[in-house]
Amino acid sequence: MSEDLNFSGKIALITGASRGIGAAVSKAYARAGAHVILMARDVKKLEEVDDEIKSEGGTATLMPADLMDLDSLDKLGPLIKERFGSLDILIGNAGLLGTLMPLPQISTTEFDRVMMVNVAANFRLIKTLDPLLRASKNGRAIFVSTGAGVVKGRAYWGTYSVSKAALESMVRVYAMEVAQTNLRVNLIDPGAVRTDMRASAVPGENPETLPAPEEIAKIFLDLGAENCTKNGQTLQA
Ligand SMILES: NC(=O)c1ccc[n+]([C@@H]2O[C@H](COP(=O)([O-])OP(=O)(O)OC[C@H]3O[C@@H](n4cnc5c(N)ncnc54)[C@H](OP(=O)(O)O)[C@@H]3O)[C@@H](O)[C@H]2O)c1
Repeated sequence: MSEDLNFSGKIALITGASRGIGAAVSKAYARAGAHVILMARDVKKLEEVDDEIKSEGGTATLMPADLMDLDSLDKLGPLIKERFGSLDILIGNAGLLGTLMPLPQISTTEFDRVMMVNVAANFRLIKTLDPLLRASKNGRAIFVSTGAGVVKGRAYWGTYSVSKAALESMVRVYAMEVAQTNLRVNLIDPGAVRTDMRASAVPGENPETLPAPEEIAKIFLDLGAENCTKNGQTLQA
């Protein structure tokens, strides 16, 4: 492993770590030496990721949580400080697609849920984890966006497009505000990746034509590395 991608001694929190991109990124960070905190709702799936990490000699802590429980997220910063003492890397990966349909037909409940997971939860994570990330010698925050209509919009991808556009704007604002600190804040557009979300977005597609989540994990390591100088950018995997 190159010295730049050695994360020994670092603590990384990954949301949406139970499957798909988040699980692959968690395993990649653990393999590179980080202690990973795995967040998602599905405990059984988190345990499977943990088993794989342990079988490769890595270490993880499971943190089952529903990102829609926004008020609970506010306690996360103090909780991580008490339990681990520090946090070096936040990967805001968890996301909800919602139903692809014309905008006026989207239910208000679904609109709120997608905005909650994709935007509001990341806002709460930034709020509660900012002191720890700034205190880290090389704090890194990485959020997962999309190519699906963030810039120009995309018909029928309503709430998802809206939420990721809002996420990108929020992350760029945060990046500008921390520019004079050691913290670096960026976004990744993973492109089409073979996951449950992609299969439900494009059901007719042959998944075997898409890259596996493991194949795009390296860019997450690059943006988490100590030598990363990028800030406020959206990188394509
Ligand atoms: N796959 C693609 O082609 C693609 C393309 C562009 C962007 N993205 C983005 O990449 C990220 C990961 O997507 P993916 O394809 O890996 O999706 P996925 O397979 O559907 O996984 C989504 C993850 O988010 C977690 N999650 C969802 N709602 C949650 C909640 N309320 N509380 C806690 N965790 C929650 C899920 O865990 P639980 O269900 O266990 O809670 C799961 O671990 C998302 O932000 C997505 O928008 C994906």
